[in-house]
Amino acid sequence: MRIEALDLEDRASVSALAQRLSGMAIDVLLNNAGLYGGSWDNASHRQSHDSMDYDLWEQIMRINVLAPFQMVQVLRANLAAGERKLIINMSSDLGSIANNAQGQSYAYRSSKAALNMVTKGLSVELADQGFTVVCMAPGWTQTDLGGASAQWPVAESVANQRKVIAGLAAQDNGRFVDLLGRSVPW
Ligand SMILES: NC(=O)c1ccc[n+]([C@@H]2O[C@H](COP(=O)([O-])OP(=O)(O)OC[C@H]3O[C@@H](n4cnc5c(N)ncnc54)[C@H](OP(=O)(O)O)[C@@H]3O)[C@@H](O)[C@H]2O)c1
Repeated sequence: MRIEALDLEDRASVSALAQRLSGMAIDVLLNNAGLYGGSWDNASHRQSHDSMDYDLWEQIMRINVLAPFQMVQVLRANLAAGERKLIINMSSDLGSIANNAQGQSYAYRSSKAALNMVTKGLSVELADQGFTVVCMAPGWTQTDLGGASAQWPVAESVANQRKVIAGLAAQDNGRFVDLLGRSVPW
């Protein structure tokens, strides 16, 4: 096991990580870090249609969209040398345009919808190099972000995610999957 520090808001930090990992094969890139801007329970007012924290929205876009894209860019050679060539971008049900029946969470929702588009594009462009690129909705989970009233205890959510990730293969390229492996409508 090896642990490296990384600030996804700082493009130089992402590049420096890639330099430190130069020459190392990587089987799976899980772009999991993400920002809501507080907990779902108590921070929704920061991104509502009548009260928007625009600095937060920009920060969310940097961490949830630009950073995962840059991670793929700088680690592509490592992944190409790996066995699974698998990239998972952690998205959200809230990134589904089709399932948006509630409005709200404009900054977070738009970031995850954008991440889904980035994922789809990469899946198209990298397919002929043997990559599998998917986005995943991990379910409403009791983390700092999800809050205490979320549906899934962390251990259960993660166990399900791990099962799905273990089974992902070329035929899943370009999918938006949930923590039970089902397709989420775009
Ligand atoms: N929990 C849910 O209900 C839920 C639902 C749908 C999707 N998701 C997605 O699942 C993923 C994991 O979320 P979570 O629930 O575990 O959220 P969380 O409890 O808020 O944890 C977020 C993680 O992202 C890291 N992070 C934030 N900004 C960063 C930065 N600039 N550089 C490096 N790391 C940074 C944090 O690191 P530090 O602790 O060091 O700050 C932390 O480890 C996210 O992409 C989230 O959008 C979560």
